[in-house]
Amino acid sequence: MPSHDRAIQRTAPVEQRVEAIQAALDARGMNATAGADELAHLAQEEWIPKNGARVVARAWVDPAFRARLLANGREAVAELGLTLPKHHRHLVVLENTAAVQNVICCTLCSCTAFTIIGLPPDWYKDLEYRSRVVRESRTVLKEMGLDLSPEVEIRVWDTTADTRYMVLPTQPQETIGWPEDKLAEIVTRDSMIGVARL
Ligand SMILES: [Fe+2]
Repeated sequence: MPSHDRAIQRTAPVEQRVEAIQAALDARGMNATAGADELAHLAQEEWIPKNGARVVARAWVDPAFRARLLANGREAVAELGLTLPKHHRHLVVLENTAAVQNVICCTLCSCTAFTIIGLPPDWYKDLEYRSRVVRESRTVLKEMGLDLSPEVEIRVWDTTADTRYMVLPTQPQETIGWPEDKLAEIVTRDSMIGVARL
């Protein structure tokens, strides 16, 4: 048997390796298991698109909040009890209109304003999306189900370590007058990334 085959057979499944590393760190007093549980809780329960949906709904019903949100996203979302990590120094909110569709990406890796719009979906991290949405955004959006008319201008925004974005989708006409909590239910993660309209 070639040596690399033996090496593969000797390697435990990833779950066992993770457990072994956590146990080794725990044994040295570093509380890795508690840290991993805390991160899992944050990722699944706290850093969710529902946060951004609340922000969008408030912006739709409250023009003064909308103006504050567009002027300084970080300060405005704090009014709803939402925070960003310290290194997300700026939250820039990009307002869609009938004539403009904003789209966000991270050409280098996978950065998002994850505490607000949720952790990035797998496709957002793919080289395919990261490279092509910049060069042929209209085609990529069409492939993802958003077929924009040629008159709609597409603006692509590349996230950096300290500047995070969220798209403020246009409010569907038929929802004008709805209560804020009902509006929040129709706002999707993809609409805040800008690959979908509502
Ligand atoms: Fe990134």
